[in-house]
Amino acid sequence: MKMYDMIIKNGTIVTASDVFKADVGVKNGVIVALGNNLKDDGADTIDAEGKYVFPGGIDVHTHLEMPFGGTVSSDDFTTGTIAAACGGTTTIIDFAVQAKGQSLEQTAETWHKKADGKAVIDYGFHIAITDMNEDILNEMPKAIKNGYSSFKLFMTYDGLRVNDDVLLKALIMAKENGGLICVHAENYYIINYLVKKFLKEGKVEPKYHALSRPTVAEAEAVSRAIKIASLADAPLYIVHLSCKESLIELARARAQGLPVMAETCPQYLLLSEERYEESDFMGAKYVMSPPLRSKDNLEPLWDGIARGDIQVVSTDHCPFFLKGQKELGRESFNKIPNGAPGIEARMALLYTNGVGTGKLSLQRFVEVTATNPAKIFGLYPSKGTIAVGSDADMVLFDPNVKKRVEKSELHENVDYTPYEGFEMTGYPVMTILRGKVIVEENHFVGQKGAGKFIRRQSPILL
Ligand code: URP
Ligand code: ZN
Ligand code: ZN
Repeated sequence: MKMYDMIIKNGTIVTASDVFKADVGVKNGVIVALGNNLKDDGADTIDAEGKYVFPGGIDVHTHLEMPFGGTVSSDDFTTGTIAAACGGTTTIIDFAVQAKGQSLEQTAETWHKKADGKAVIDYGFHIAITDMNEDILNEMPKAIKNGYSSFKLFMTYDGLRVNDDVLLKALIMAKENGGLICVHAENYYIINYLVKKFLKEGKVEPKYHALSRPTVAEAEAVSRAIKIASLADAPLYIVHLSCKESLIELARARAQGLPVMAETCPQYLLLSEERYEESDFMGAKYVMSPPLRSKDNLEPLWDGIARGDIQVVSTDHCPFFLKGQKELGRESFNKIPNGAPGIEARMALLYTNGVGTGKLSLQRFVEVTATNPAKIFGLYPSKGTIAVGSDADMVLFDPNVKKRVEKSELHENVDYTPYEGFEMTGYPVMTILRGKVIVEENHFVGQKGAGKFIRRQSPILL
């Protein structure tokens, strides 16, 4: 009888704790052996000599086919997950955003219609609650039981935001039922005041998007959310943390032992506010919330990852074409749909600029791109590590490949990348999802609809 369906030979396996040479034996989509000289003549054998074998990447912050600002993000669950797979990501958690009047169940159903049969990698949903009332609050335990164990609450954006009392109630309900609240932390009133002021003064260019969302607006909301969570005695996860002032709030809370966790994204580690000065409306490429910050925020965020205050690097992938979508805000920065692409280059950019510069160890790289996201969002140990019993989700990564980010090489369905021209040393050369090769040398060879919806467990707090 065949012992293995696949053997990955001679690779260097990297987990959050170890780096070691071993072969990986896979059967029925699961890792069944780690050892030396694994043999099975009937198995597909992949030679990984000279390559790292990382756990498949997990991107816990994506927006596929999401309505926003009068348009819809341009990657759907097929194009977006193909791009993710080509970049070494095998699981995403997308935000199912509640429409006004929808129940949580209907919200999840809406997102299943977008994803089921279309995704090429595995996926889960956070539910973004935008229309809270007692019925919705009481629906949260069932949603958690059904595997939608995390929720996003927006503290800003007209039409999406919730007040502090809603945040408090949701934190208590989530905590009592094994769920996790994620917050988009920016102070609505500061932003609203500045947006109106700039528009009145005729300041309409993309850079005023950034100027209307100063770091203090984020740090205040981060601080407030942490205090509300501590009152509720509940864990909290801060999405897309972008600046050192917010990091100070986070680090202080963690030093006090509060269960507050956070992610940042490549754009806040690699890009800065000068980008908004690009001529001919090209600053619109970077209109996202929170916005890009001054350069002196970059190193503190890298340090925050290295020392453990920031646990996750996700993308907040939310692509809009410049043509026809970002252009909606040509006359007025507040009409530019918020968001930027990034799902494909996350692993390679973080490797080059983190591991390649000595800022992150190999293990820390794996921890923030796969293991911690899996733990925090209830996927571990099926996902996020290379161990006997885990799903055979792996990426073979060649640390010697030299490549430049070019839009024409990426699979994202959008007409630009914010990282155009970035040099990379190290790139995924093969992506494996539950024992099936789905990407080889930047070519997608998997199947539309092969991605599986994952019902997630309660968070492991880090
Ligand atoms: O600008 C952003 N981040 N767009 C996506 C929605 C969100 O706030 O995450
Ligand atoms: Zn957000
Ligand atoms: Zn987002």
